[in-house]
Amino acid sequence: MSQSETTAMAELLELDAQVLQSYLAELVDWLGDLSDGAPARIVDLGSGTGTGTLALAQRFPRAHVTAVDLSPQMLHRLTEKASALGLAGRVRGLRADLDQGWPRTGTSDLVWAASSLHHMADPGRVLAGAFDHLRPGGLLAVTEMSFFPRFLPDDIGVGRPGLEARVHAALDSGPSVDWSPHLERAGFRLEAARPFAIDLRGSLPPATARYAQVCLRKLRSHLGREFAADDLAALDAVLDDDSPHSVLRRTDLTVRTVRTTWAARRP
Ligand SMILES: C[S@@+](CC[C@H](N)C(=O)[O-])C[C@H]1O[C@@H](n2cnc3c(N)ncnc32)[C@H](O)[C@@H]1O
Repeated sequence: MSQSETTAMAELLELDAQVLQSYLAELVDWLGDLSDGAPARIVDLGSGTGTGTLALAQRFPRAHVTAVDLSPQMLHRLTEKASALGLAGRVRGLRADLDQGWPRTGTSDLVWAASSLHHMADPGRVLAGAFDHLRPGGLLAVTEMSFFPRFLPDDIGVGRPGLEARVHAALDSGPSVDWSPHLERAGFRLEAARPFAIDLRGSLPPATARYAQVCLRKLRSHLGREFAADDLAALDAVLDDDSPHSVLRRTDLTVRTVRTTWAARRP
């Protein structure tokens, strides 16, 4: 990933954390309920800018969290945020390529991997590493997006009803992965596969409009020539800061997405 792609990804991850804060709190609470005692040693695989690391460090005030990521830029942002939150003593950034083997994390009580496993060349090997580095009874939480967030109403007021649905249909990459068999193959016992249906309406977090713009711009950049020109023009109006239809001015946004977490235990 180039420097500018990493910067763009980091912004998206930080907006995601701000907008989906209530979902994240619910997820972390649920993992607390599934854990046999509050986890003290946590590893975040592919931590990015620290969404999971920081939420876990805040939810479990005695825990030490090791954030593993390939990107020094992501880890820099993560450690700066940890310091600002007074968590520097319990949060450690560890630069490592998980495709090259398991880094020196020691044994942990909880391993967390959010939106990261699908990036790995050999996720089975990473899951085997997680198994080896969890204590017996320890928990692994794998979270992946079931579908990319949607924001717009069906009628966006520019005469192209159903625009956002067509954007997603054009980019549909097929059914999302079921991680259950992968986890069982690595030796884990599946505790639950829980979809979190997120549907934010009404009074939305302040970062929502920018989040919608960044997400829709990302989708726009992947659309091919076969996408209808009239739909592209309508999407461009939504993405144009100066347009009356701009996502930054709209009062009809919602946030709809599904994230699934597979919680599995080392027997
Ligand atoms: C989509 S981001 C998810 C970040 C974070 N877990 C979150 O939920 O916000 C994926 C992260 O995985 C990292 N990553 C991708 N491949 C990796 C690898 N082989 N080893 C370590 N980290 C990797 C990327 O640098 C990126 O920060």
